[in-house]
Amino acid sequence: MAAFDWDFQPKLDRRVVEDLFTLCFVESREDLLVTGKTGTGKSHILQALAIKACEQEWMVRYARCVDLIDDLYAGLADGSYERRMRKWCRPSLLVIDDVGLGQLKRRDDEPTAAHMLFTLLDRRHDHATTAITSNIKLSAWGKYLGDATLAAAVLDRLAANSIRIDINGPSYRQHLARERAKAHGRKPRGDKAT
Ligand SMILES: Nc1ncnc2c1ncn2[C@@H]1O[C@H](COP(=O)(O)OP(=O)(O)OP(=O)(O)O)[C@@H](O)[C@H]1O
Ligand SMILES: [Mg+2]
Repeated sequence: MAAFDWDFQPKLDRRVVEDLFTLCFVESREDLLVTGKTGTGKSHILQALAIKACEQEWMVRYARCVDLIDDLYAGLADGSYERRMRKWCRPSLLVIDDVGLGQLKRRDDEPTAAHMLFTLLDRRHDHATTAITSNIKLSAWGKYLGDATLAAAVLDRLAANSIRIDINGPSYRQHLARERAKAHGRKPRGDKAT
């Protein structure tokens, strides 16, 4: 987190985020849900937390949501679904990054992504920490995961025992693009900022 510019994201409570780095929430098996628009630093923070947890020798696994779901779909194809699911259940800290990004596979004769995520979170709930980032509204999870009822059940489990952080602020990516454009003396593409 040394490179993190706190002044850029003034609405983000620095004390709350820094407190996460004690990893007490992993010890106490609480979940973590970080939401906010694209480019606000969600993945940056969770990747830094995952590294810190590795350094402290917690068993950690990190995946983007699409890759985790793809891995489980591959298990359906070759009969290793249950083994793969158990592997995702095992780590003390599982980071599921970027819920809402990328296209999730969907076939009528197979469980939906919502079903897989529900099973995973239900099994992990209360015995290991799951940390999730999302750049879509929680109300849009049903559409993204392919099942509104199961998505609601996933969110219900998260709401029961999770630390919630919403990063309400500007995109650092756009900030970098503006800085780069300035350095090259041109206006960044699609930038409406004055
Ligand atoms: N406050 C900040 N200080 C320094 N770098 C930052 C800050 N916020 C974000 N970044 C950097 O900006 C880039 C985008 O951040 P990040 O990937 O964490 O965004 P995100 O919120 O996960 O976006 P998305 O929803 O699109 O996945 C990364 O390179 C990250 O390191
Ligand atoms: Mg991200």
